[in-house]
Amino acid sequence: MITSSIITIQNSSWVIDQQQLDWISALESGKVLHFKNLPFEISEKERILFNESIQNPSARNISLGADGLLKGVIGEEVTLDTLKQLILRFRNLSQDLIHSLVPKYAEYLKVSPTSFRPLNIESRQQSWRADDRRLHVDAFATRPNYGERILRVFMNINPDNQPRVWRVGEPFEKIADQFLPLIKPYSKLQAKLLNVLGLTKSFRSEYDHMMLKIHDAMKSDISYQKNCPQAQFNFMPGDVWVCFSDQTSHAAMSGQFMMEQTYNLPIKALYEPQSSPLALLTSKARRKLV
Ligand code: SIN
Ligand code: FE
Repeated sequence: MITSSIITIQNSSWVIDQQQLDWISALESGKVLHFKNLPFEISEKERILFNESIQNPSARNISLGADGLLKGVIGEEVTLDTLKQLILRFRNLSQDLIHSLVPKYAEYLKVSPTSFRPLNIESRQQSWRADDRRLHVDAFATRPNYGERILRVFMNINPDNQPRVWRVGEPFEKIADQFLPLIKPYSKLQAKLLNVLGLTKSFRSEYDHMMLKIHDAMKSDISYQKNCPQAQFNFMPGDVWVCFSDQTSHAAMSGQFMMEQTYNLPIKALYEPQSSPLALLTSKARRKLV
């Protein structure tokens, strides 16, 4: 099935045996690739993990770092071990998927933490800025990335047949046209200050400033949230979906228990670098942004 923003793929193996340029092109132009039939068994032993209370209340989610360190979880040794194995299984399968879906990325992919998200989205209380039920493109206040891409693999593993309900918004270029004129100008001085004070992990570039301000401007605009072109989609348990979350406007409206793998990817790994947010913002600003 092809809707304008989501492409459903009926592959039944995490290893794609034939490279499909139209899928790659769709992904790089900001669409979501949705895999309906990828096998992922949850064992009897893993059922103890389907419990909100294994997440540390002060953590945003549970994650396994590339260094093998588990964060944000509370529980007995056996729970932690079971969880680590589940996350590792998903991490390995995600890698199989991306390596075979987009072989050119393989040598460039940087593996970021893999997360397990046991909280019910609807019952979370969050500030508007942190609220992912509002459409946004991903941009992180403390971690400038200089245009490097954020590629994410998601899987709904809800045991009670509950969908993860997403909204997907309009193409990045439309978002940039709408919000760029509204954001406050970049200040190198302020970026230096943020860095010196340790509020950013490295110097915030003009690109990072723009992405962050676009993220905030989208989330804070109630009328945009309601009225912009968008499609709602139910990702059912077992569904896997992939997108560049720095480019695809997305919002997670409801659901519980999801796995997520983040990768960072340098622009040079892309087939169509001209569709990247960095290229689009640079051509609109007509100056170097990083
Ligand atoms: C997000 O990346 O904004 C949230 C995704 C989700 O929780 O489904
Ligand atoms: Fe997001």
